[in-house]
Amino acid sequence: MTETAIIGGTGLTSLEGLEIVRREVVNTPYGEPSGTLIHGELKGHRVVFLPRHGSGHTIPPHKINYRANIWALQSIGVDKVIAINAVGGIDSGLKPGCLVFPDQIIDYTWSRTNTYFEEGLTNVVHVDFTHPYCEELRRHLIRAAQSAGLDAVTSGTYAATQGPRLETAAEVDRLERDGCHMVGMTGMPEAALAREQGLCYATCAVVANMAAGRGDEEIISMEMIKQHLETGMQRVCRLLEEVVPLL
Ligand code: HPA
Repeated sequence: MTETAIIGGTGLTSLEGLEIVRREVVNTPYGEPSGTLIHGELKGHRVVFLPRHGSGHTIPPHKINYRANIWALQSIGVDKVIAINAVGGIDSGLKPGCLVFPDQIIDYTWSRTNTYFEEGLTNVVHVDFTHPYCEELRRHLIRAAQSAGLDAVTSGTYAATQGPRLETAAEVDRLERDGCHMVGMTGMPEAALAREQGLCYATCAVVANMAAGRGDEEIISMEMIKQHLETGMQRVCRLLEEVVPLL
């Protein structure tokens, strides 16, 4: 049986409203996933939840075993993945607390293992990534946000940076010149690995702060990020309750 998975990001290490049925440890050829897979029901629909940074939020973005996470999900029959990712807003229309469903991504990360196709190949593989997110799943997310009356932006380009530090103001200027609307640290290689595994994958980005040099504050504090994510994640929970029955 195929299932929908939710990968939680910063601010979403447990899922409100999820009735937990069981936890499953999955061993993968790529090492350990971020934690046990949590099987449960959301509004009566089966979902699997995996907190990307671990249940205690201890794994930084560049240390996440993205390959193990995606492999674990596909190995148990998951076919759709809703990824929740905290971002900084570059575009002035992306205010803290709001939700965004990006339709494009630019990868600025480095030294992360970013493919399944590197060893023991009989042929070199290049997967198509023209449209990095699953449009059907994006449409469902957009419809769900609209019917829940949530403040959401329906497209945009996600800049995936290496972290764990936040960007300089000049780096954010460059990202903006490149056409990016939001910046986060966990969008890649997760989206590409999901494509390599043939999963339908879409992101709900939650704006935690205005990106460096964009807000009124001189510096970006973790307190500020946490505060905005609390509001944003309440919206995410509403969104998930609304979208899961559509899938
Ligand atoms: N930059 C990168 N990643 C982030 C940010 C940011 O400003 N906010 C939340 N995740």
